[in-house]
Amino acid sequence: MGRLRRPVARTYRAPGRVNLIGEHTDYNDGFVMPAAIAYDVRVAVTPREDRTVTVVSDGFSGTRSFDFDRLEPGVLRDWSDYVRGMLIELQRDGAVLHGADLRVTSDLPVGAGLSSSAAIAVGVGYALLDTAGLAVDPVKLALAAQRAENVHAGTQSGIMDQFISANARAGQAILLDTRSLTFEYLPLPDGATFVVCNTMVKHDHATSGYNDRRAECEAGVATFAARDPGVRALRDVTLEALESARGALSDPVFRRCRHVITENARVLAAGAALERHDFAELGRLMSASHASMRDDFEISAPEVDTMVGLANAFGPSVYGARMTGGGFGGSTVNLVAAGDVAAFVEYIVPAYRAATGIEPFVYLGVGAPGAGEVR
Ligand code: GLA
Repeated sequence: MGRLRRPVARTYRAPGRVNLIGEHTDYNDGFVMPAAIAYDVRVAVTPREDRTVTVVSDGFSGTRSFDFDRLEPGVLRDWSDYVRGMLIELQRDGAVLHGADLRVTSDLPVGAGLSSSAAIAVGVGYALLDTAGLAVDPVKLALAAQRAENVHAGTQSGIMDQFISANARAGQAILLDTRSLTFEYLPLPDGATFVVCNTMVKHDHATSGYNDRRAECEAGVATFAARDPGVRALRDVTLEALESARGALSDPVFRRCRHVITENARVLAAGAALERHDFAELGRLMSASHASMRDDFEISAPEVDTMVGLANAFGPSVYGARMTGGGFGGSTVNLVAAGDVAAFVEYIVPAYRAATGIEPFVYLGVGAPGAGEVR
C-alpha cells in the first residue's frame, strides 16, 4: 500500500475583538483596553513544495495565487490584499516562508467594528510562520499585520486590533500602552459580563471618517509641537495645555484633541476599576467615553446612539454602554450584571428592532484566547 503523499492540512485561528474602552487613542500613542471575542477567522493550510501561496475565502469568490519572488507591494484593492501584505511584511522581517494552499473561513461579520480584517492578517501570518517551522512572536506578528493593513490594504489603522488578536488570553482583557507596546493582562470578573450588540449598520463614510479624524489629531499635534518640541503625539498633551491652546485650534480640532486626552485618562481609570471589580465606576467611564465619541469626536451614528440609549434604559443592571471600534456604525459594548444577561438580551433585541426596523445581533463570549493552531 502506497502512503498518501499529500501533506496534512493544519488549521489556525485568529479572533476578532471588542474594545472595552479607549477609542481612537492607539494612533495617538495612547492607551486601549480590548479583549478578544469567541468569533474568529480560520485558516486551513496545506503545504506545497514550490514558492507559491494560493488562497480561497468563503467570503469572496475566486482563487488568488502569489509567487514569493514576484510580490507586488502597495494597495491593489482586492480582498486578498491582507494575505499578499502579510507575505511581503513577514519576509521583510526576515522570515523564510514555505509555499502553501490557504483556505480562509470566518464567522466574524465584516463592518461590525469587531476587526475581521485584522483577524485575517494575523491568522494568515500565524499560519504561514508555523507552516515554515518558525517561532511566532505575537508582538512582531501584530506589527507585521498592521503594516500589511497600512501599506498593502490602504487603511491607516493603529496597532490595537492586530495586537489583541495575536496576544489575547482566555478570560482576560489587555491594557496596552500603544507607545511602548508594554501591556498587562486584566482578568475579566465573574460578577459582570461584557455583551456586544451589533447595530448591523455601517455608514459609507466609515473609512474616510476614520482617516479624517486621524488627520485632525495630527493637525492638533502640529500646533502643540510648535509650542513645545517635547510633544510627539496627543499622548503628551495635558488638558491644561489643551485649554491654553484653545484660540490656536479650530473648534473641531479642539474637540478631537479633548476626546483623545480625556479618553486616555478614562482607559487608565477603567483598568483600575476593572481590577477592583468596581462595575459602577467602570460603567460610568464607558458611558462618559460614549458621550465623548458622540459629541467631541463625532464618530457615533443614530443607530448606535439608539442602541446605547436602549441599553441604559434597561435599568441599573446595565452599568454602562458605549460604541466600540472605529465608529460610524458597528457595535456597542455593554457592561451588564452577570445574573441579568439573559434578560438583557431578551429585551434589547426586540427593543432595537422596534426602534429602527433592523434586526440586531448579540455576541457573548468576550475573553477568547489569541491566535494559534486549532487542535
Ligand atoms: C479601528 C482601528 C484601530 C483603532 C480603532 C479605534 O478598529 O483599526 O486601530 O484606531 O478603530 O479605536
